[in-house]
Amino acid sequence: MQQRPLGQSGIQASVVVFGAWAIGGLFWGGTDEQDSIEAIHAALDAGINCIDTAPVYGYGLSERLVGKAIEGRRDEIVLATKCGLRWDDANGEFHFNLGGKDDKDVYKYLHPDSIRYEVEQSLKRLNTDRIDLYQTHWQENVTAVEDTMAALIDLKQQGKIRAIGVSNCTAERMNQYEAVGPLDADQEKFSMIDRKIESDQLPHCREKNMAVLAYSPMGMGLLTGKVDPERELPKGDIRRTNPRFSKENRVRVIAMLNEMKPVAEQYGLTFAQLALAWTIRQPGVTHALAGARNAKQAAENAKAGEVILSDEDVIFMDQIIEKHRGNLV
Ligand SMILES: NC(=O)c1ccc[n+]([C@@H]2O[C@H](COP(=O)([O-])OP(=O)(O)OC[C@H]3O[C@@H](n4cnc5c(N)ncnc54)[C@H](OP(=O)(O)O)[C@@H]3O)[C@@H](O)[C@H]2O)c1
Repeated sequence: MQQRPLGQSGIQASVVVFGAWAIGGLFWGGTDEQDSIEAIHAALDAGINCIDTAPVYGYGLSERLVGKAIEGRRDEIVLATKCGLRWDDANGEFHFNLGGKDDKDVYKYLHPDSIRYEVEQSLKRLNTDRIDLYQTHWQENVTAVEDTMAALIDLKQQGKIRAIGVSNCTAERMNQYEAVGPLDADQEKFSMIDRKIESDQLPHCREKNMAVLAYSPMGMGLLTGKVDPERELPKGDIRRTNPRFSKENRVRVIAMLNEMKPVAEQYGLTFAQLALAWTIRQPGVTHALAGARNAKQAAENAKAGEVILSDEDVIFMDQIIEKHRGNLV
């Protein structure tokens, strides 16, 4: 498994990171505790040393499951979580409510008091005394960025967090954070079908030697080739109403993937692995956060961290992506 630095923090994290959003269940039509814990164990056994979670994933459930799964193995793990999405407080900017019976109003809020509260909650749920990478999950316009960053630096000085990251940010806002102190990582949506960051965040992070953690690198499952037109997604799974998961778009994505089959076969990769291997070969993208709901998926995804696609194969894939770009949602 290849490892790369998290910015200037001195921390090395596996290029494929276990993404713990889906195991929280919320947005994903529920979750199974046993499967989730086995998925994390399979990821660690296959060489993944980094786990990314967030308080809002299942309103605390994902962090609790991660805490349970890493018991006795904490020292081998780089633990990344986030702050700034509150479902238990109505300050800041309204972000979403999924509208189900048990769903809550979620607010974006990065006030220093809120961050100081949140970090303690995360440490408890994760059953640890430190968070290796602490990221502001979504940005808001109520709190001064400088105040947020000062609070994060303070937590770092106290040893509660070891590195500071942002997510769903812009280069302009990263400059505001960096006027107070250095950032180690930026977490953004990036995959073969989501390349917006190439014009803004990626150049910034390359220049500043920051890590870039690509989220949804398999397009929430679409790029695995396993979401065929007949597959029914469960109730509560947000992909059901996402136009990207329409039957027509699934057919088009599978057509694109089929053109990449020669590359997959040459390296002995599944489409899921190919999507991850392509992601970590993009200039400036240092890590791919791979979601997995069970041990089989987690072990399969980890293998992508051992593969280095050649320049020719990346160029060949880019030509296919470019050809299909206008047709895909
Ligand atoms: N910062 C943010 O705002 C943000 C936002 C989104 C995600 N993230 C992070 O990024 C991580 C990954 O993103 P993501 O979960 O959205 O999307 P993803 O990694 O692109 O896709 C994950 C989903 O694909 C399917 N899958 C995974 N491995 C597979 C395999 N080997 N074969 C077949 N299907 C497979 C699973 O769903 P099914 O089996 O149900 O198809 C899984 O839940 C998250 O867990 C989270 O840590 C962060």
